[in-house]
Parts: sequence; C-alpha cells; structure tokens
Amino acid sequence: MQGLFIMKATLTGSGWSDRMPTPLWEALVRHVAARPVPWHVPGHKMGRGAPPDLIRWLGAGLKLDLTELPGLDDLHQPEGPIAEAQVLVAQTFGADESFFLVGGSTVGNIAMLLATCEPGETVLIARNVHRSVISGLMLAGASALVVAPDWEYDLGVPGGIRVETVARILGAHPEIRTVLVTSPTYHGVCSDLASLAEEVHRRGGLLLVDEAHGGHFPFVQGSPPGALASGADAVVQSWHKTMGSLTQSAVLHLRGNRVDRQRIRESLATVQSSSPSYLLMASLDLARQWMQNEGGRRLDSVVQTLAQVREELDAVPGVDVLTAERARRAGGVGLDPARLTLGVVGSRGTGIEWGEALRRRGIWPELEEPTAVTFVAGPGDDSRIIGRLVKGLQDVAMEIGGVGEPAEGRRGSRVFPGTEAAEWAALLQELWHSEEGQDLIRPRLARKVRWVPLGKALGLQAARAVIPYPPGIPMLLPGERIRPLHNELIRMGRSMGVRLVGMPSDEEVVAVTEEGRE
Ligand SMILES: Cc1ncc(COP(=O)(O)O)c(C=O)c1O
Repeated sequence: MQGLFIMKATLTGSGWSDRMPTPLWEALVRHVAARPVPWHVPGHKMGRGAPPDLIRWLGAGLKLDLTELPGLDDLHQPEGPIAEAQVLVAQTFGADESFFLVGGSTVGNIAMLLATCEPGETVLIARNVHRSVISGLMLAGASALVVAPDWEYDLGVPGGIRVETVARILGAHPEIRTVLVTSPTYHGVCSDLASLAEEVHRRGGLLLVDEAHGGHFPFVQGSPPGALASGADAVVQSWHKTMGSLTQSAVLHLRGNRVDRQRIRESLATVQSSSPSYLLMASLDLARQWMQNEGGRRLDSVVQTLAQVREELDAVPGVDVLTAERARRAGGVGLDPARLTLGVVGSRGTGIEWGEALRRRGIWPELEEPTAVTFVAGPGDDSRIIGRLVKGLQDVAMEIGGVGEPAEGRRGSRVFPGTEAAEWAALLQELWHSEEGQDLIRPRLARKVRWVPLGKALGLQAARAVIPYPPGIPMLLPGERIRPLHNELIRMGRSMGVRLVGMPSDEEVVAVTEEGRE
C-alpha cells in the first residue's frame, strides 16, 4: 500500500486544510482527461452509448462511471487510490480502518453482524434497529434479544438506550458478546455510547453502532460525541443521508482490535457488488473533503439558524419540538442539531396529514409518522429555505389546528388522550417494552409462506417483517408469533396512512410460515 497520504502533513494550525487530497476523484479525472478509448464495461462507454435521457440529465458525469481499470484500484483489494481515500476517511474519523460501502448502511449492518457473530449466537439489539440488522441476523444465523429504547412522551417518539437496562440484560445473559444499537435515532436522539462501550467492554463484549444518520457529527459544532470517539468497535454511517455523497454511498469504520478486520473484508466482499460504482465511491472521497471544508462550515451555519427557529416552532399551536433537553429526559445524551423533529399529537392532524399539507405547499419532509414529522437539514440549506419551512409549518398549524391543553400523563409527561396517533405511539412503546429481554428473535428466511387475513393470524408465526417505512424499524419481526398488539398496530397504522412494507397495501393479510415446517 505505497504512496498513502499522511493526513497530518495536510493539517494546518487551525484545523483541516482547504487542500485536502481526494485521491480517488483525482485518479478518475486523470483517467478521463487522457481520453481513453474504452473497449470494456460499463457498456455505455463513458456515456457515448447511454440512453439519451441519461446523457441529457447526467451529462459529463457518465464519463466517470468507470470500473476496476489499471490505476483505478479495486474496492475488494484496495492498493491504490481507493486505499488512499479510505485511509483519509479513517484518519479524519479516528478509525483504525474505514471501508467504502456502495450498498448503504444496509450492507454495513449486515457485514458487521456476519463478521462478528457465529451461527446460533445471541446478540443484544436495540428494538429500534433498522430492518438491515434483522437481515444481518438472518444471514449470520444469529438470534437476538432486544433492549427497548426509552420514550419521549411529549412527542411519542423513541428516545435513547439506557446503559442500566443493557447492563441488566447482559447480567442475566452472560453468553451475549455483541451489542448493536442505533444512535442517533431517525429523530436525532443520541444514546450514551461512551457508557455503553465501557459496560460492554468491561464484560469482554463488542459494541456495534448503526450511526447511519450521524456521519456529519465531527463537522458540526454542538453535535453529541460520535460513536467512534465514544469507543464503539465498529460503526456504519450513511454518508448519503447527511454528508452530501450520492445515494447508497456509506462508510464502515473499525476501531481497536476486537473486530477481526479480515472477516469484515470477507463479509463486505460477500455482500457488496463485484462492480462497485465509482461514482458512489468518488462521491465519498469528495464528501469527506467537502465536509472538512466548505460543506461543514455551511452545515454549521444552517444548524445555528435551525437552533434559533426551534423555540419559534415550539410556540406554534399543537407542535412540540424535539429538543436536546427532551432527548436527555428520554434516555439520550443529546440531539443531532441538524435534525428537526416536531411532535404533532397536540394538533388535530397526524404527522402524516401534516406531511401531506406541507407537500401541498411544496415542502417535502423526511419522515412522517402518526405522532411526528421529521426534517433533515443539509449544507445546501440556508436561512431563506428554513424561513420557508417555518412559514409552511405556521400555515399548516392554522389549517389543521390544535386540540387544546394536554393532560398530565405517565411519568409526569404530557399526553393528549383520545388522539389515534397518541394511542398508536403508546401501543408501539408497549409492544417494544413487552419484548425487552424476553423472546429470543430468530429471524430466518421462510421457505414456504401463506398469506392469512390479519384477523386470523393471531398466534401464527410471521414469515415476513411488517415495517413502517420510513423509518424502516420492523413492527412485526420474521419468526415472531403474531399477537393482538401487532394486529392493533397494523390496523391503526393502515387507517392513518402509514406505509407498511411486508404486506400488500390493498389487502389486510400477513405472511405466515407453514406451521410446524419452519
Ligand atoms: C438507522 C438506519 N440504519 C440503516 C439504514 C439503512 O441505510 P442505507 O439506506 O444507507 O442502506 C437506515 C435507512 O434509513 C436507517 O435509518
């Protein structure tokens, strides 16, 4: 691995230099500038043979859609510009090794589990993990116990994972070595990863973190500490979500020697394409440099403007803003400052209705759920765009209206009794807590599947997950016995317009296994 850049040489006294190298990007541009005549794949031959509409929209970018040519390295055995670009990522994030992902954090989560679990092993997973974690367990032949996140009762959204709860479950299950949590959550709540890492390591275990939504933390002031800095052993980050790289591009970082690096490489080679997109990989190379410089500065300033409008939005009738204070009360240690989650259980509409009303005004949220709406800020936003969001929200609040004063509820929190959305959130929380430390989840790919009307599925074993999407957190897990709580949540979700992946949208049927055969 010769010619690797040593990033320290490029550091200036004030931080990262504006001239950080982008080795993969530069190698691609050099290749194109030499005007090669391609007699190799991809068959569009640097765009010349691509469909006209692709040429019209992607233009010169198609020239960079190249493959493993001499000088352009190989993701699965990197020794040139890909290796150099990955080293720069590792140095920037304080990892011992970082890997480019071209299948999103999805493949990162799967590879982390494939590399760290033996078949039959039990892993402790947060109940609010993304579906890719369930896929990883399935492929690794592993099982899981779940730990439920705390709950933010004002908004009806999940909070952080408490270290005491993890310690209690690990105490009762000393056979568990691996713990996997999501932090930040889709709503931006960060768990106390430093304490979790300490607890897990004290017991000789591994902490894997799905930090899909938190890649930008090192570049934005006021962000909670990132997973690597907190001591996690392996971390995945969807850079396409928050760092400006192309959709599907992501990164997996390793720190320390608890995770076998060779097994990670093998796992990644198993789940990633043998023709990884150079556009995706080059976008990762550029995104790192961008966030270290102008992109990071811009996001920082967007976040400051967003902080100013949080209070303004909290005053909108029917709206509760998810604040760092609320995140801390809900078992977290902080909140992603680039994420804005608004609870709307105090209004006359669900989060899904808020989303529709906003879209009618040209504003497209990231996530709409019965109780809340979530927005993702990026380096391309500015005070004008944020102002438009605030105005849109104020207009929607007038259109939808509030339901008056909340009643005092559980644990001194405020609840809005009688709204279907609040009821949904309460049931979801009940479901997750009822599963905590109890049932062993053994997700397996069902061989034979029957579709059964929901009303007749009670007690049967689910063959497929049922997943509100986004956020992609399974409500019903494959292999789970279907309970009345599942039925109620599925029915309510459908009636409120939640998109449920894993069941047809026009029929109330769920997939179950052929009893006794699985
Ligand atoms: C918490 C979490 N983890 C993993 C993923 C999967 O990431 P990707 O879309 O990059 O594959 C998502 C996607 O939304 C997610 O929310």
